[in-house]
Amino acid sequence: MKNTYKLMMLAGDGIGPEVMAEVSKLANWLNSNEDIGLELEDELVGGASIDVNKIPVTDATIQKCKEADAVMLGAVGGAKWDDVDYNIRPEAGLLKIRKDLDLFANLRPAIVFDALLDASSLKPDIIQGLDILIVRELTGGVYFGEPRGIETMPDGQQRGFNTQTYTTSEIERVTEVAFDLARKRSKKVTSCEKANVMESGKLWRQVVTNLHKNHTDIELSHMYADNCAMQLLRNPKQFDVIVTDNLFGDILSDEAAMLTGSLGMLPSASLGKTDPSTGKRYAMYEPVHGSAPDIAGQGKANPLATILSFAMCLRYSLDQGALAEKIEQAVQDILNNGLRTADIMAHNCQEISTSAMGDAVIDHIKSILRKAA
Ligand code: IPM
Ligand code: MG
Repeated sequence: MKNTYKLMMLAGDGIGPEVMAEVSKLANWLNSNEDIGLELEDELVGGASIDVNKIPVTDATIQKCKEADAVMLGAVGGAKWDDVDYNIRPEAGLLKIRKDLDLFANLRPAIVFDALLDASSLKPDIIQGLDILIVRELTGGVYFGEPRGIETMPDGQQRGFNTQTYTTSEIERVTEVAFDLARKRSKKVTSCEKANVMESGKLWRQVVTNLHKNHTDIELSHMYADNCAMQLLRNPKQFDVIVTDNLFGDILSDEAAMLTGSLGMLPSASLGKTDPSTGKRYAMYEPVHGSAPDIAGQGKANPLATILSFAMCLRYSLDQGALAEKIEQAVQDILNNGLRTADIMAHNCQEISTSAMGDAVIDHIKSILRKAA
């Protein structure tokens, strides 16, 4: 009997459907050739859902996400929906899924592939061998804090306001994830906040320091987020795991992504807590890049971030680490062989389309399997 799993596929907007099509192709190939059964179901999210349902995600879709073994998401947003009501903009759908599934821990690895050393704007010796993991808090902070809004003041001016808020348990649970992941890596955690300016940052630092008393095998350091942004450019290899809040994590992970040469290479996993009675953990996997409407529909998008997110899904949600490794190995081989999408194109390489890149991943998994046989 094959292990079978349900995957909710939310392709979204812009290049989302193109890159997700490559994951579906790969999943279907695995179904026919490996000892796994992946049942894929497509649903709408973001602008695509607004066009049909008038809202960026329906309750029925949220329910299906909860029932699935994992959710794969492409990207949301685009100028077409710039004028929709702020509460139902495409991004609100993504934020609602994160919140409703309580996906508080967002793992964003930034790994530099040797073949892409020249794609980075940094000198090769600064980034060669780089392997860092940003653990971003994803369901709290200023993204969700109340009160928020835009109000008109007595003098007629308008005032926009948001609230940065963190509780002890919100800080503890994401830091716990960071310590656990660091234990399987170089055992170093850097916690980032602005304790010099924000009370929420002061509490963050206190809670992380206290929790560390139960994790003394991990080397912990604290860094102000602005310094971290600078250090990521100056000497990124000083970092192993970075744990930080929702907003700083959003910014620092885009920066870390570019160290690797292209946003088109970066996968992510968003994890909830494990239900002790069922062992089930809600999870969603998505590329770090956005919907890139400017290149949508042209076959130019890089599907590797989404394919690598699928590998993370196999590892973290479906307990298929060996398959995940094959996919990651295939991606590395392809890059070494000089195949590139436009975003990572370099001298002496061959530029190929989104779907040709998806095909190449499958071809290389085939050759890995042949060698193993
Ligand atoms: C990300 C994105 C999202 C975020 C947007 C699309 C709401 O930038 O996942 O990093 O800000 O979290
Ligand atoms: Mg972002």
